[in-house]
Amino acid sequence: MDYINQTIRYVKEELQGAEAGHDWFHVERVYKNALQILQYEQADEQVVILGALLHDIADSKFHNGNEDIGPEKALAFMTSIQIDEEVKNHVVEIIRNISFKGGNFTQSFSSTELNIVQDADRLDALGAIGIARAFHFGGFHNRIIYNPEEKPRLNMTKEEYKKHVGTTINHFDEKLLRLKDRMNTPTGKKIAAQRHQFMTQFLEQFYAEWNGER
Ligand code: ADP
Ligand code: NI
Repeated sequence: MDYINQTIRYVKEELQGAEAGHDWFHVERVYKNALQILQYEQADEQVVILGALLHDIADSKFHNGNEDIGPEKALAFMTSIQIDEEVKNHVVEIIRNISFKGGNFTQSFSSTELNIVQDADRLDALGAIGIARAFHFGGFHNRIIYNPEEKPRLNMTKEEYKKHVGTTINHFDEKLLRLKDRMNTPTGKKIAAQRHQFMTQFLEQFYAEWNGER
């Protein structure tokens, strides 16, 4: 079996029973987005593929905030299938640095490969899928849909963002609508613009219905 199929098999097994926002199908969509972006970029294909497939192998949100488990598990797996040292280290950096976490901190590592995987992951937070994932997340964590008296918080630090319990509609302002301007690659920007527009249309309809105007 080649390294891609070995990795797919491992990720599917590890993510069995994962909540629907970060399950194998999320990873599969991110993988497909990454392959699409890769067509227009000069980058190491193996690093991008492994980064996309392993990026959510152990999300810190579901491990008491522990940000080391994901990179460690990915590293152990890559060692078990004899991936080159340099590739392994690069993939680990991608997993460590991919996350949004409020957007108000400086990333400690940068590479074209990270840019691609990050864009691929962000695209899955946008558009129709993005809306579905946001409300799924809200339901899963027992959050309320919307409260007109609760204003979005835009300047949270990474720690505040991680602890913050807000409404799902506010999450659009706090994160989802800000992603369009944070895309790294031209392909990512183009797809994000279209998905962003779909989300703003959804919100317009949502507020109109909330106010009994439509
Ligand atoms: P990141 O790792 O980039 O910080 P998350 O893993 O927190 O991103 O979020 C992944 C997806 O889960 C988001 O794109 C969104 O769809 C959903 N999500 C995360 N936090 C919230 C929230 N507070 N309300 C609604 N959806 C959320
Ligand atoms: Ni992800």
